[in-house]
Amino acid sequence: MAKDTLTITDNRTGKTYEVPISEGTIRALDLRQITVDKDDFGLMTYDPAFMNTASCRSSITYIDGDKGILRYRGYPVDQLAENASYLEVAYLLINGELPTEAELDKFTDDVTHHTFVHENVRTFIDGFRYDAHPMGMLCASVSALSTFYPEAKHVMDRDIRRAQMVRLIAKMPTLAAWSYRHAMGMPFVYPSNELSYSANFLQMVKRIAEPKFEVHPEIVKALDVLFILHADHEQNCSTNVMRSVGSSRADPYVAVAGAAAALYGPLHGGANEAVLRMLREIGSLANVPAFIKEVKSGVGGRLMGFGHRVYKNYDPRAQVIKRLADKVFDLIGKKSPLLAVALELEKIALSDDYFVSRKLYPNVDFYSGLIYEALAIPVDMFPVMFAIPRTSGWLAQWEEMLLDKDQKIARPRQIYTGYDERKFVQMKDRTAAVATPELKSNARETD
Ligand code: CMC
Repeated sequence: MAKDTLTITDNRTGKTYEVPISEGTIRALDLRQITVDKDDFGLMTYDPAFMNTASCRSSITYIDGDKGILRYRGYPVDQLAENASYLEVAYLLINGELPTEAELDKFTDDVTHHTFVHENVRTFIDGFRYDAHPMGMLCASVSALSTFYPEAKHVMDRDIRRAQMVRLIAKMPTLAAWSYRHAMGMPFVYPSNELSYSANFLQMVKRIAEPKFEVHPEIVKALDVLFILHADHEQNCSTNVMRSVGSSRADPYVAVAGAAAALYGPLHGGANEAVLRMLREIGSLANVPAFIKEVKSGVGGRLMGFGHRVYKNYDPRAQVIKRLADKVFDLIGKKSPLLAVALELEKIALSDDYFVSRKLYPNVDFYSGLIYEALAIPVDMFPVMFAIPRTSGWLAQWEEMLLDKDQKIARPRQIYTGYDERKFVQMKDRTAAVATPELKSNARETD
C-alpha cells in the first residue's frame, strides 16, 4: 500500500531512514538524524536563494507558475482587478475574506483617518539632498515612523499590531508622495479625506494650486488596478525579508523598511524603473535587433521586465497590465513612443529560442512603467509605486508569520568554506592580501 513517506538509504553507512512526506514536502530537520558517526552534525540541505525550499505554510497567495495562476485568498487576481478596489483587496489579504459593505466602510474610514504623518516627518524628509532617490527616502522615512510609535514593538498584542497595520497602509502613500515632492522641490500636499486611496495619492503627487483636485475616474481606477496587481506575491524577495526581520520581533515599521529596501533592487521591484531606462536607451525600433543580440551574448545585461523565478509560462499580472496600458493610452489620448519598442522587444523575445528555451516571458514590470510614464510619474518613482500596494501583502505575511506556531527567528545554516583554525599573525609579519580567484568569481554582476 502507498505510504506518504520517503525512504532514504545513506550509502556512506548503508543505513535506511523513513521520513514523512506532508503537503509535498519533507521536513529538513528530519534529515538531521542521518549521520555517519556520533560526532556528525547530521545531514542538511544546501539551497542558495531558496530555489526549492518552502520557508513557511501560508494561506494568503497561491501561484502556479506553470499555469500562470495568481490568486489572493483563492480569488483570481484578474477578477479582483476587474471588480474590487485596492482597499477591498488589502482587507482581503490581511483578514482572509472579502469585506462586507459595512466592514469596508469601517476599514476605509480607519485608513483615511491615519493618512497624516507627524509634522516632524516632514522635517525629516526635508533633510534629504534635493536629488535623493524617492525609494531611499521612503525606506528611511518608514523606518523613522518606528520612533513615533514606540508601542509598535508589542507585536504579539493584536490591537497594537492591527493599529500599526492600518497606519502603515494609510501612511505609505503620504511618505511616497512627499518623497517625490521633495525630489521635485515642490511643497508637500497634505492628504485629503474626501478622496479614495488612489485618488488621494495622485493629488498628493500632482496637486499644485487647484482649489479642487480633479482626475478622471478611469485613471484612478487604473492606478487602483496597478495597486491590486502588486499587492502580494507570496514568498518573493521582499516578503521574505519582511518575514525574516519580523521573526526577530522587530516592529513592523523597520520590517517594512527592510522589505522596501529589498524591493528597491533592479531584479525585484526596481525592475520597472530599469525597464523604462532600458526602453529609453534603446530609443527606436531600429536599435532593437542589436539590443537583443547584446542580451543574448551576455554583454548587454538582461532584458529587463522579462523572466520570473516562478512563472514559467506567463505572468498573469502582465496580461492585465498590457490591456490596462491600452486603456490608459486611449484615455490620455497619446501613446508612448516607447510602446512600439516594447512591443517589438516582446515580439522578438517570444519567438527567439534564447528566451523561449529559458521560459522568459514579460513580467509585471514590463508594461507597468509605460503606464506610470503616461500618468507623468517620473521613473525614479516606479519602485515606490510598487512599495505602496505591496505594504498590505507584507503586513498580511508578517502577521501570519507571527501567529504561526511553526515559526521561530529566521536563521539559516551555512556550509563553512573558510580556513581551519590559524595562529594570529602579528602586523609586522603580514603581507598584503591578494583577492583569490574564488572571491573574484563570486563577485559577478547580475545586471
Ligand atoms: N534577460 C536575459 N536573460 C535572462 C533574463 C532576462 N531578463 N532572466 C533570466 N535570464 C537567463 C539567465 O541569464 C539564465 O541563463 P543561463 O541559463 O544561460 O545562465 C537563465 O535565464 C535563468 O536565469 P536565472 O537568473 O537563473 O533565473 P532566476 O529565476 O534566478 O531569476 C529574475 C529571475 C526575475 C531575477 C530574472 O529573470 C531577471 O533578472 N529578470 C530581469 C529583472 C526583472 O524583470 N525582474 C522583475 C521580476 S517580476 C517583479 C517582481 O516580482 O519583483
